[in-house]
Amino acid sequence: MQSTKAIHSILAFSFIFLTTSASSFAAPKQIKLPPETAKLPKSELAGYQLATQKCMICHSVDYIFYQPPGMNQAQWTAEVAKMKHSYGAMLSETDIKSIGAYLAVVYGTAKATDSEVIAASANSSQPKTNREPQAQELLTSSGCMGCHAIDNKVLGPSFKDIAAKYKQEAQAQNMLATSIQKGGVGKWGEIPMPPMANLTAEQAKGLAKFILEQ
Ligand code: HEC
Ligand code: HEC
Repeated sequence: MQSTKAIHSILAFSFIFLTTSASSFAAPKQIKLPPETAKLPKSELAGYQLATQKCMICHSVDYIFYQPPGMNQAQWTAEVAKMKHSYGAMLSETDIKSIGAYLAVVYGTAKATDSEVIAASANSSQPKTNREPQAQELLTSSGCMGCHAIDNKVLGPSFKDIAAKYKQEAQAQNMLATSIQKGGVGKWGEIPMPPMANLTAEQAKGLAKFILEQ
């Protein structure tokens, strides 16, 4: 009798332990999946920074890993250009060249010492890319891109439509920052946007600015 009871409580205890530990593993995973699952190989090339900032906004690095090996710089550059032209990735022409060169070095046939790689990596637009990615990373890590896209409506309105609607208003940035932090419903339809309460006022303002620039 005694020992059955003991076994019973051990079982009950381990059941609770298993379920609580399982849920504490599951929780953080659900929130930030895409950027953390895999990492791009580190490199001194300018395209490495750009790729870490700009490629995981829509999908994980796995998409890059799945490409056939042995692609050259032109092929990788074309692949990156496709992200802009077919899928609306926000990349300048210099970003495309620079990321194409980097990927060709780490996954393809190019070498960091190739003159084409050096040329494509040299003229990357640092000042512009320093600001943009901050907003873009925050959009991804805050889960905005689960409901929004730059060009098209998802659950929420596209950032282009939001910009077009409010661009002319003097207080647009502050107003949108408030909408982002507090959420809302009825301005675009029946689907509510939840409050994004984890963002600081400054972060919300930064995101509002970025959205208004689309
Ligand atoms: C605006 C969203 C967006 C961004 C940003 C983006 N991609 Fe993609 N990418 C896509 C979509 C959509 C697909 C196609 C997914 C599918 O077919 O299921 C894709 C697919 C891919 C593929 C698989 C091959 C293919 O052509 O379908 C590769 C490789 C890839 N992306 C690389 C990149 C790289 C490198 C970057 C950064 C320069 C990047 N992506 C940034 C949207 C994006
Ligand atoms: C669960 C889905 C969802 C998430 C996550 C989400 N949004 Fe929204 N968002 C919406 C919907 C739906 C609307 C339209 C609400 C309405 O009709 O008033 C909207 C509206 C907006 C608007 C327009 C507000 C206005 O006053 O017209 C902005 C700006 C915006 N979202 C930015 C963001 C940002 C930035 C994030 C991340 C921090 C984010 N959203 C996360 C669904 C979402």
